Amino acid sequence: MNIDGRTEIYGIIGWPLGHTRSPALHNAAFGRMGMNAAYVPMPVAPGELRAAVEGVRALGIKGLNVTVPHKVEVAQYLDRVEGVAAELGAVNVIVNRDGELVGHNTDVEGFRLSMEKSGAKVEGAEVAVLGAGGAARSVIRALIDAGAGGIHLFNRTLSKAEETADALGGADAGIDVRAFSDAEVDTTIADCSIIINATSAGLRADEEPPINPALIRRGQLVVDLIYEPWKTRLLEASETAGATTANGYGMLVFQAFEAFRLWTGHTPPLDAMWEAGLREGLNG
Ligand code: ATR
Repeated sequence: MNIDGRTEIYGIIGWPLGHTRSPALHNAAFGRMGMNAAYVPMPVAPGELRAAVEGVRALGIKGLNVTVPHKVEVAQYLDRVEGVAAELGAVNVIVNRDGELVGHNTDVEGFRLSMEKSGAKVEGAEVAVLGAGGAARSVIRALIDAGAGGIHLFNRTLSKAEETADALGGADAGIDVRAFSDAEVDTTIADCSIIINATSAGLRADEEPPINPALIRRGQLVVDLIYEPWKTRLLEASETAGATTANGYGMLVFQAFEAFRLWTGHTPPLDAMWEAGLREGLNG
């Protein structure tokens, strides 16, 4: 990579940022396309977010990814928030268009494309979503877009699942999004062809999965949004049960693919991004 006076800067803000594969994905695409641009990690502590966004304007940073815990708060510091980002109140991409900062959400499309790539049959399917936070909301929105038959929400805190179901389902959405309780978990999981973990349970290798993996059966597709560790206990147990599995790496790459298009107007090389992120996982 050749950094000079014309290099355009992109990056990712979050806290704690820790190890992130996003620089590898985007820098691989910039390199392959011969673009004079660089993507760097920018840890931003809570309390510093407003100043960081002002810095984006002042420094002429071209675009950012936004990750935990800033996705909701950042919206109020931007000039505009578009489309599904406004609807969900969650921004994971900022585009700097000549000084105007616009918020977007590519997590939704990223998840939809990752499901498409894995050959999942979402249309008409009964889907169980575990979790009711920001990640779960993006997943639910993508499932609605992809024509899921019904969405069943399960969360450690039932009231939050009910709140999320009310916010995203109903007559307007044209789909039934229903929160289910501990007492209903056995029958609901059995009735679903797709099960998606959108909780953070599993990020630590010793952590209990959010549902008992003994409920998983052959023929079901189990998706865990976590990709570090690469295979959570939930995915390992699901594989053993004969289910098809996928982790969240596809969503990571496809949200990056869509972000790149918003920033540059160009379609990046998906294969180069995919492979660079895999290599980064081995190095990280
Ligand atoms: P994100 O943006 O990643 O979705 P979040 O909005 O903080 O993060 O949501 C985290 C989700 O993971 C929540 O659904 C949370 O459940 P609660 O609503 O009960 O807090 C869920 N979660 C986190 N740790 C969990 C654990 N150990 N077991 C089960 N669910 C967990």
